[in-house]
Amino acid sequence: MDFDRIVKIVEDRTGIAITGARLTRIRRLFEKSPDLFLGLESMPFQHENWQKVIDSLSVQETYFFRDVEVFDCVRKEILRELSKRFPSEGLKIWSAGCATGEETYTLAIVVLEYLKSLGFSFESIKDKVFILGTDISQRGIQRAREGLYKNIPMGSFRNFPEEFMKYLEPYGEGYRVTKEVRQITRFEVHNLLDSKPPIQDADLVVCRNVLIYFHDASKKRAYTNLVQALKKGGYLIMGPLENPGMGLEKRQCGRLVYYMKP
Ligand SMILES: C[S@@+](CC[C@H](N)C(=O)[O-])C[C@H]1O[C@@H](n2cnc3c(N)ncnc32)[C@H](O)[C@@H]1O
Repeated sequence: MDFDRIVKIVEDRTGIAITGARLTRIRRLFEKSPDLFLGLESMPFQHENWQKVIDSLSVQETYFFRDVEVFDCVRKEILRELSKRFPSEGLKIWSAGCATGEETYTLAIVVLEYLKSLGFSFESIKDKVFILGTDISQRGIQRAREGLYKNIPMGSFRNFPEEFMKYLEPYGEGYRVTKEVRQITRFEVHNLLDSKPPIQDADLVVCRNVLIYFHDASKKRAYTNLVQALKKGGYLIMGPLENPGMGLEKRQCGRLVYYMKP
């Protein structure tokens, strides 16, 4: 099979634009292990060959409280709105393209802290809050499920606020997120280009630092998935410059632009 064909297959299945350093990485992998690419087109992306290709391509850089402004807006605007219909309506959140889970757990911590500040006990909310993290990388999802992170310079905790340390417990060379946080969180392998989202009637969908690596056509397919997952009155947070259109209402919180499904 020629290399250009392989690049096309990988782009079509993952959405990731294969250019620059990613093109170099995939060329090296092809030269080293050409058999890895045999029959790739018809294999499910959970297959270990696909996963090797995905892990050679995808950028899994992430950390807790990555963008403070985002989580401030989640607290100040979005949770304030959503909590008006809580607990009669539960709270469902999807963190799409979560890599090793730090974004998903950050959302869980922010939600727990907010609901507790309103006087809810953990026991009273644990079956009403559901936060799902998904990623195309099986390795990322396995690490996310463990919830264990080394405490190294410029690692997962580089932005972690002191006030939320109570949601971490010391573990080995780092920390594990507490059982409470893990109890309201779940992780699944999911491709954003799938025909269906992995969750329905979500109150909030967050997809940050994922679609920047996508081709325009793949972005559109991913937008459809993200918007389909939302319930009416649900919110969508993506990266700057990303606009799904699709009849969503634009909202502004400081420098953050986000969307509401009317
Ligand atoms: C840079 S990380 C972003 C992590 C987190 N959202 C954040 O902002 O810190 C990008 C993630 O997108 C995932 N990804 C790439 N293509 C994907 C696809 N088609 N479906 C789901 N996830 C994908 C990668 O595996 C990677 O873990």
